[in-house]
Amino acid sequence: MKKAKFKKKILCIGAGYVGAPSMVMIACKCPDYKVTVVDINPQRIAAWNSDQLPVYEPGLEKIVKKTRGRNLFFSTDIENQIAVNDIIFVCVNTPTKTFGAGAGQAADLQYWEKTARQILEYSQSSKIVIEKSTLPIKTALAMERILTSGKGDITFDVLSNPEFMAEGTAMNDLENPDRVLIGSRETKSGLTAREELVEIYSRWVPAEKIITSNIWSAELSKLVANAFLAQRVSSINSISALCEKADADISEVARAVGTDSRIGSKFLRAGIGFGGSCFKKDILNLVYLCRFYGLPEVADYWESVVKINEYQQDRFIANVLQSMFNTLAGKKICVLGFAFKADTADTRESPAINITRKLLAEHAEMVISDPKALDNAAMDLDDAEGQISYIEDPYRAAVGCHALVIMTDWDLYRKLDYGKIYRSMVKPAFIFDGRNIIEHRKCFEIGFNVFPIGKPPLTRL
Ligand code: NAD
Ligand code: UGA
Repeated sequence: MKKAKFKKKILCIGAGYVGAPSMVMIACKCPDYKVTVVDINPQRIAAWNSDQLPVYEPGLEKIVKKTRGRNLFFSTDIENQIAVNDIIFVCVNTPTKTFGAGAGQAADLQYWEKTARQILEYSQSSKIVIEKSTLPIKTALAMERILTSGKGDITFDVLSNPEFMAEGTAMNDLENPDRVLIGSRETKSGLTAREELVEIYSRWVPAEKIITSNIWSAELSKLVANAFLAQRVSSINSISALCEKADADISEVARAVGTDSRIGSKFLRAGIGFGGSCFKKDILNLVYLCRFYGLPEVADYWESVVKINEYQQDRFIANVLQSMFNTLAGKKICVLGFAFKADTADTRESPAINITRKLLAEHAEMVISDPKALDNAAMDLDDAEGQISYIEDPYRAAVGCHALVIMTDWDLYRKLDYGKIYRSMVKPAFIFDGRNIIEHRKCFEIGFNVFPIGKPPLTRL
């Protein structure tokens, strides 16, 4: 009898920022598992099968090249792939609902539910179904209800295995995670399913970092982890406003506070606020759940994290306007960085979108520069009114501008020759460092009026 080539077959539904990189890592670490990633978007799948991957992540391309065609496959054939695979990760998008009850806060579960129904329809054997998308607590219950609504003999065990990787560092996060969390039902078959998933991760993750829990705790932990991280950013940003009033320096405060081992130093970088597809969406989802469960005080507490984030951006925009003599009309402003953070082309919920739109509303002429995100920036600003140009080279982008606004912490912007840039700009020239990444004193000495976040400005005006 011919020996089966693969020990088990894994499917991932959803080939986005999370689904594909996490499956790439599993394929790399488990060469005896066949891993297939499917998506309803044929262009995305074509890109995963090409040399132009649809997601930019340092280190990703190398592992895709190593695994693709060996035990990693990308396909649009969702129906057949559901039928032939044993373990199914679901990693479809779960955006904030834009319509009906809970609009603007609750998670839109339509893609998720559609997937559950497809799994039921096309399955011909029992399967483990794993929630990898970030979901409201008790979604697994809805998933179980859909999956048990037909097909007599076939059984489905639903697990929650939320993903904690961050963009820009995804491959390192996936290879060396702080923890892998697996929630299951505490029934015999639930625990057996959990063990199957533990076996996969234990190929490269130390046992003490694989945490198991009940399924609802796992679902909730993901929302709470993002809420805590975002809360730290809002906390430090709120204090940056006080620093600007009281001549303190936010970097010195963050350092002094963060060296307390109980507090820790990470996620205390003040800036123009958090962006990205998840922090705001997940906090609003948490807020919605708290209201749903009759906990308005808890909901208000978490909602304030989002409000401070908006306040921080409004403050930044007001500062640009006031510092430039209360008029931006006809002035040219160069945006350095449009991605929501460094080392990604992703611009979802990037503060740069809102800030650029508000500056356009003041009739400023905008020049957008970014090493990776210009295509996404052009799509984000597609319907924006006003004059916008896109120039990747920061030196060319700055020529003839009145101000630079730094929106993304790309390493590249730390190392620019600001003397050369200054000479090409209209005087007085301004820098608004929304990420506190450049040498402020040095830029001031060159001639710039420098406005950092949470530090006294350095200006001759
Ligand atoms: P994404 O939009 O990049 O990817 C989702 C993919 O799912 C898309 O390509 C979409 O076409 C596909 N899809 C939707 N419905 C489908 C269906 N019925 N069948 C097949 N494919 C379908 O989103 P993402 O950033 O990868 O996020 C996915 C989930 O992971 C979200 O719940 C998010 O909160 C969570 N998450 C994201 C990150 C991150 O860094 N982006 C990190 C951790 C968790
Ligand atoms: C975040 C979490 O860090 C991941 O653990 C989680 O898996 C992911 O969300 C998710 O669920 O999508 P990500 O959004 O990719 O990851 O990036 P972060 O590094 O968390 O940064 C988020 C935003 O906060 C960025 O705009 C960043 O610039 C900002 N930030 C971060 C600060 O302004 N200051 C900081 O000190 C840290």
